[in-house]
Amino acid sequence: MCGIMGYIGHGEASGCITDGLSKLEYRGYDSAGIAVINKRGIEVRKSKGELKNLLEKLDRRPVTGSIGIGHTRWSTHGAPSDINSHPHLSKDKTFAVVHNGIIENYLEIKALLTEKGYRFISDTDTECIAHLLHYNYDGENFFETVRKTLDMLEGAYALGIICKDFPDTIIAAKKDSPLIIGLGKDENYIASDIPAILERTRDVYILDEYELAVVKADSVEIYDINGDPVNKNVFKVEWSLDAAEKGGFEHFMLKEIYEQPRIVKDLALSKLPPAEHRVNLEGISLDKSDLEKINRIYVVACGTAYHAGLLGKYFIEKIARIPVVAEVASEFIYKDPILDESTLVIAVSQSGETADTKEAVKIAKSHNAKVLAVVNAIGSSIAREANEVFYILAGPEIAVASTKAFSAQVTAMYLITCHIAMQMGKMSVLEFEEIKASLYTLPDDIEDVLEKAEEIRAVADKYYKAKNVFFIGRGADYLVSMEGSLKLKEIAYINSEAYAAGELKHGPIAMIEEETLVVAIATQQELFRNTLSNIKEVKARSAKVFGIAVDGNKDMAQECDDVVYIPVTHPMVSPLLANIVSQIFAYYMAYNLGTNIDKPRNLAKSVTVQ
Ligand code: G6P
Repeated sequence: MCGIMGYIGHGEASGCITDGLSKLEYRGYDSAGIAVINKRGIEVRKSKGELKNLLEKLDRRPVTGSIGIGHTRWSTHGAPSDINSHPHLSKDKTFAVVHNGIIENYLEIKALLTEKGYRFISDTDTECIAHLLHYNYDGENFFETVRKTLDMLEGAYALGIICKDFPDTIIAAKKDSPLIIGLGKDENYIASDIPAILERTRDVYILDEYELAVVKADSVEIYDINGDPVNKNVFKVEWSLDAAEKGGFEHFMLKEIYEQPRIVKDLALSKLPPAEHRVNLEGISLDKSDLEKINRIYVVACGTAYHAGLLGKYFIEKIARIPVVAEVASEFIYKDPILDESTLVIAVSQSGETADTKEAVKIAKSHNAKVLAVVNAIGSSIAREANEVFYILAGPEIAVASTKAFSAQVTAMYLITCHIAMQMGKMSVLEFEEIKASLYTLPDDIEDVLEKAEEIRAVADKYYKAKNVFFIGRGADYLVSMEGSLKLKEIAYINSEAYAAGELKHGPIAMIEEETLVVAIATQQELFRNTLSNIKEVKARSAKVFGIAVDGNKDMAQECDDVVYIPVTHPMVSPLLANIVSQIFAYYMAYNLGTNIDKPRNLAKSVTVQ
């Protein structure tokens, strides 16, 4: 969370930085700010709220200069306000700093500096970095000052730093928060993520832990924390520019929902060779001999990725018959999990930067467990830390509410499950071919669901004023109920809860009344009779029921107020289709309520604090 962008070159820094920040707002949008160096020294503009507020300010009072740093904030220390916005200035306006992360020992540093006469004006941890730079500065050596300052910091940081005495240099540093350096022609950039610089270059350095970059208009030098030079390979970004643009859709979320058939198709085609009864996991070493050493599997993740992980657990247990524990990463890391070299930990993360998931991976590795990361962002921290990486190749996901990454993560889980089951002889060729066929047809099935968008929208038009919603389902339908409910909370701010359909009567049914909306997901034939009984129970208490069922299920039409049907497919795959209905439903509920769909309040796409 928090986005950093910096520019150094011969053009105007301000426009380039704000362009970059506009691609990073998914990382936070509580405030935005920019600092440039010009002949007046360091000039700063910042503003509470979304980037557009800063742009208005810059229209009224532009800043010129061809070196600068900018920031878009997701608040941790200090409420959203102009004063707490980054960049933060040091005493005498010598240094300006933008920061993503949390400095854990900032109170000690603040006490030390206050005693030395430094005056703090904000509530942030970042301001202490700016003053500490000033405190450590000998008036000559920018690089050594930064190095000395970093030595005194505990916690996580991605930093962009400028010094008024060095108008030709930005120094960037990274520990536990992502940072990349974009390589341009006679200009260079620093950024938290690739979309910020994609319009300008495809050549980047991805900084590793404890690395610093000295960035000038015509050179970039990388050093380790001891000041020794580091040789780095240039990473070539292959994404198309369109991938980071809305492409005619009103919101990124809708665009990303519509990208799902293509993403799933690419995954299925690349991993399931047509004439072979195997999954091609391309370089992931998880063959029979590796798997025979494994006696325990954990799946760890947060948010939507955790829901994909729950489905992974369900598939692996049901098909490969290996017990799996699925944990939210923020719990896993504090409960002393049982880990050793015979444990496989599957870490699922779209961004590959989520602090809790990253910490879970570190803990797993420190106990010699094998870590398989299921990640979208190429070169991200979790991808680099893990022993093996399954890239879901969904392209940049910009909307804060995750949609396409979820479908790709779930598809990855099918593929990993089939691979394990085939390697371990737990699945017949016939069973494998059935699932494979359903994954081949999944893109068309998703298209069929997308064609029902207007039908789903009509249901949302009817219920968008609902104050309380329950999502119910059994088995895998319950797991996607959790994801459907989360989407509604995230973007429509509607109080919504997912319940195992059979559990409803053990408490929550007391809350059912006339206005309550129940979304009943019922794609699992073997569980259908039971789910139908639960639908009848809530109907008898005057709830409205929106059902999601498989084509041909007439009972649902009889019992529910509204039903949307999904195509018939393998029962393991149908929950994913049902979830696409939930995504579109949440989108139009939020649309009718006029919320900020791509940037819902209080959320950030990438949560890099624990
Ligand atoms: C945040 C986002 C969620 C996301 C979760 C995990 O909370 O708002 O959409 O599911 O982080 O993110 P990850 O990048 O690890 O999948």
